[in-house]
Amino acid sequence: MEINITRNELPDGIRSEYEKILARFKDPVRLPYFNTLVRFAEEYTSFLTAPASTKFHLSCKHGLLLHSMSVTSIMFDKKESTSYFKDISDESIVLTGLFHDLGKAGEDLENPYYVECEATPKQKAAGFGPSQPYKMNEMKVKFEHAHLSALMIAKYFPVASWDELQAVLIHDGCEKLSNQDYVMKECKLQTLLHHADVESAKWVEIN
Ligand SMILES: [Fe+2]
Ligand SMILES: [Fe+2]
Repeated sequence: MEINITRNELPDGIRSEYEKILARFKDPVRLPYFNTLVRFAEEYTSFLTAPASTKFHLSCKHGLLLHSMSVTSIMFDKKESTSYFKDISDESIVLTGLFHDLGKAGEDLENPYYVECEATPKQKAAGFGPSQPYKMNEMKVKFEHAHLSALMIAKYFPVASWDELQAVLIHDGCEKLSNQDYVMKECKLQTLLHHADVESAKWVEIN
């Protein structure tokens, strides 16, 4: 089982930015459900410690959280600066920005999506570390990460809207072969999330 940390054990700067984003979810009707999802992500998955990728963007401890916060903040910037995104709610941005990659934390602590790589005996003997920091947990992973994120949100946040679920489900965009059935069916929130995700991973995040 993964060793988990609590929110209070996050580095101060990360925790305060994370809490500022969480506080933007204000809808009193959906807030209790949102708090349940947040508690599940923090306590029963490796959301606070997992990397964002095996060897690409933010492949480091807390990488997933840093990536998710960066995507959320780009979504808010785009909402403020682009007229046709202005009617998207802050709650939809917080939910999908923070948890679009929740699947990368794994279904639960027994089934992390990523595991740390170990150096081979040859690498160790030569004084080297492993050739990449993380790898997929091939034995345990049953779902593609975006599908798992949408399933986990639907399961632990049963008041998600269809747009929120679609945005998370196909956040990698319809250029991806497995998403092509959705071409021209993307909702506005999906466009906002997808573009913020690509911009963050490609241009903002530095290991
Ligand atoms: Fe993703
Ligand atoms: Fe992402």
